[in-house]
Amino acid sequence: MPTYSLPKHIAYSQSLAAYIQHNLSDSTAQALTLAQLCQLGTADLGAGALGTQYQGTSEVETGHIGATLLSYSPVQGDVALRQEIVKFHQGLNYHSQIITADSVVTFCGAQEALSAIYQAVLSAGDEIVVMTPSYPSLVSMAKSMGVIVKEIALCADNHWQVNIGDFKHLVNERTQLIVLNSPHNPTGSIIDSELAEQILQLAQHYQCYLLSDDVSQASNYYDLALAHGYLDYSKSIVVGVMSKSLGLAGVRIGWAVTPDKTLLQSLMAIKAVHSICCSKIDEKLAVLALQNSQEILTNNNQLILDNIALFSALVARHPEKLNWHKPQAGILALVEVKNIDSIIPWSHQLAKQSGILALPSELFGLSGNYFRLGLGQKSFANILEKFEDYLLTTSTDSA
Ligand SMILES: Cc1ncc(COP(=O)(O)O)c(C=O)c1O
Repeated sequence: MPTYSLPKHIAYSQSLAAYIQHNLSDSTAQALTLAQLCQLGTADLGAGALGTQYQGTSEVETGHIGATLLSYSPVQGDVALRQEIVKFHQGLNYHSQIITADSVVTFCGAQEALSAIYQAVLSAGDEIVVMTPSYPSLVSMAKSMGVIVKEIALCADNHWQVNIGDFKHLVNERTQLIVLNSPHNPTGSIIDSELAEQILQLAQHYQCYLLSDDVSQASNYYDLALAHGYLDYSKSIVVGVMSKSLGLAGVRIGWAVTPDKTLLQSLMAIKAVHSICCSKIDEKLAVLALQNSQEILTNNNQLILDNIALFSALVARHPEKLNWHKPQAGILALVEVKNIDSIIPWSHQLAKQSGILALPSELFGLSGNYFRLGLGQKSFANILEKFEDYLLTTSTDSA
């Protein structure tokens, strides 16, 4: 029987679960309650704009979430949701070809979408190019399939930036897939529109697949040029989700968009043997959230900016203990803890003494004394106070 292990960051969090009360590494923006989400639109749990009413064998739109018929949803995903996903994607990106709801498959989260994409396009012995550190499964899923992983190692001295030379160095005729993630988990660096265009040309030159994990693209609080035109290329795939910029991880909806019809069919076939379809309630809630995404994002992005200011002030008060590069976009950044022997015992001590989870960068494939900082939560200011108390009561070289 094969053995499977949890992704490292999840296993690490679970190993400290007895101590953890606060998560300083959360990768999501602030969540809403179900009631708050419903209040954003004209929907409510009993009566609103999104539901359907059952009449004999068919459903009719009534505007009642409570009237949603709890049957299977289409494998490809509810068409109204796929239309909202297209609008959301188009609001953030550009393309010369028309993207329609036919190019979208929904999944139960971005993770399921990524897993299906890897399964659909990769076989043992293929090569992929990916930036590291990374969201762990982008590397681990490939390795577990016997895929050769070529890593572009991001480094702090270079503010975690990549350039086209890094890609040209590793992409060649053996490359089956280039994996991008911008804004980047865990560093907070970006691929701007100009670099995106260069990477797109490289992928086209070698005719390899191009996957862009865009889960926090809408956390663009400095209004940088994050738009890309990847979907103009037939072998590109873009992944999005409710959990990160929109903060709605409890609405288990993610998606893949691709102009490649054959790939789309494969993704649906894979989904059909994993989850079959998404929850109908989640799909309705995702429609509601996407229709009100501007309001949600305005609030979430302002909160991230406020939290960046708080953390900058903390670093300025403790320059001998902490160092960081602010994120360019997204919800995450890496923080260097200075003058300690090793980040793992330091992080353990922090959890045991203060109940704070700070995920060491090793879990994301980067050695050195860094931890992942999540900047999306309302509780951030409160956690930071406890974190500062911890810094003040410990000498950094004792951990
Ligand atoms: C870069 C990236 N991609 C995909 C995912 C998966 O998203 P979800 O957990 O909502 O499926 C995450 C989650 O942390 C992520 O950080």
